Amino acid sequence: MKQTSARKPTPAAPQPIGVFDSGIGGLTVVAALRKLLPAESIFYIGDTARVPYGGKSQATIERYSQELSGLLLAERAKLIVVACNTASALGVPRLRETLRIPVTGVIEPGAQAAVKATRSGKVGVIGTRATIASRAYERAIEALDAKVKVFTEPCPLLVPLIEEGWLEDPVTDSIIARYLEKLLRSGVDTLVLGCTHYPLLRAAIQRHAGPDVTLVDSAQNTALAVQKLLRQQKLAAPRASVGKLQVALTDQSSAFLRVAEQALGLQVGDTKLRAVQHAVG
Ligand code: DGL
Repeated sequence: MKQTSARKPTPAAPQPIGVFDSGIGGLTVVAALRKLLPAESIFYIGDTARVPYGGKSQATIERYSQELSGLLLAERAKLIVVACNTASALGVPRLRETLRIPVTGVIEPGAQAAVKATRSGKVGVIGTRATIASRAYERAIEALDAKVKVFTEPCPLLVPLIEEGWLEDPVTDSIIARYLEKLLRSGVDTLVLGCTHYPLLRAAIQRHAGPDVTLVDSAQNTALAVQKLLRQQKLAAPRASVGKLQVALTDQSSAFLRVAEQALGLQVGDTKLRAVQHAVG
């Protein structure tokens, strides 16, 4: 009689945390996640085919957010991190209504960091036109501390400069100076980098804001929020695992991906391409 050798079941690959952004800016959040949660695998999608989101309507951003989440679900994501302020402000409420897995954005974590940092009670927020127009930061900060006054400024030229890799450049410096002028006159002591691209300009922005202004971004606080959510939902990877990072883009790899990799000390490796038009299931 022939002996059938019992096949060992192949262990299922760990489910990743799904992260998306309009482009490469969300990698600032990925860097914080990798540092805090090295056991977690991450699948990141940058919508390089349709960046920037910052001037688009709510309906468009909601649709894009649904499509990218569809791609992340196809990668078996166990939780979705919307690593884009614009999509967090305009797309997250609908995602929370429609998806069965937890979704976290970057606005509340950024607001928490700002309220913690301010001494004068005057906080500045810079972001895309869509984020600023949504007043999402005002609402989030007010919910935490109604005494804090919020001053905002849309900075639509910064994302293209960052995607172009002009991180240290006199042109970028003069644009930053012009955008910050009014905010700094209003006496803010804390400035929220309300766009996940902006931490890549942190040095230039700090130079203009001066040493008395604390810059805060959502990355670190978002990573902490994800850690809490994973624990609450019992979704955390076993501590001994070594998480891997996979990056997909919706258009060919932008040269700036390599700059971001270097600036953030991330090991991105090969990128994949993903088409978005058939993503909604
Ligand atoms: N990274 C996106 C954000 O945080 C903005 C870039 C864009 O305009 O697409 O809002």
